[in-house]
Amino acid sequence: MVIAIDGPAGAGKSTVARLLAKKLGLRYLDTGAMYRCVALTLARRGLAADDTASAQSVAESVKIEFRPGDPQRVWCNGEDVTEAIRQPEVGDLASAVSTIGGVRRALVQRQREIVGEGGIVLEGRDAGTVIAPEADLKVFLTATPQERARRRWLELRDKGVPVSEDEILRRLLERDRQDQTREESPLRMAEDAVLVETDGMSITEVVERLARLAQEAGEA
Ligand code: DC
Repeated sequence: MVIAIDGPAGAGKSTVARLLAKKLGLRYLDTGAMYRCVALTLARRGLAADDTASAQSVAESVKIEFRPGDPQRVWCNGEDVTEAIRQPEVGDLASAVSTIGGVRRALVQRQREIVGEGGIVLEGRDAGTVIAPEADLKVFLTATPQERARRRWLELRDKGVPVSEDEILRRLLERDRQDQTREESPLRMAEDAVLVETDGMSITEVVERLARLAQEAGEA
């Protein structure tokens, strides 16, 4: 069973995908974490996001590992970067870096290798359209920008990251624009994806809805 979940920033994809994978006994692939690892590596080397040659070279060579943990740990070039890649600045840089064709090709190739082993829930922006177009179930998870900004704000506040809700909303709208208008694999819903709008739904309700959809897909 391969389940591909796409949607805009802050729709709850990571949390939902992780819990769904756990519930169904599947592996979990956070493809956005891979773009974030490339972004963090570039930033630490003092390289700009528009240095396309360097970005591609980093995407091809950076060592990315997902290690067990709850939540799953992300290692980049031998260092645990699970928290570092969640900084809002790294997210913005990841969005910029993800517009580079060479970066996408390098990461998509790695992602397809991981997905090829089967039994996985993967989430991102192009999971159902590019990485795994043959997925058994494709879901497009979304919510209004205000709801998504509020969730992100609560999440960051709990982690002690000081940002205002307005600032988050501004960044989120900018990220939506960048993710949807880029030339390379823009965020869009696959034709055969199920649209799930999560305003007013709890995480548990969303996970249960997706588990039912997965069951139906498995029976089909
Ligand atoms: O899901 P996220 O916020 O961790 O993703 C960070 C950025 O990476 C996002 O703005 C767009 C990019 N991304 C992408 O282009 N394709 C993916 N499959 C996953 C993420």
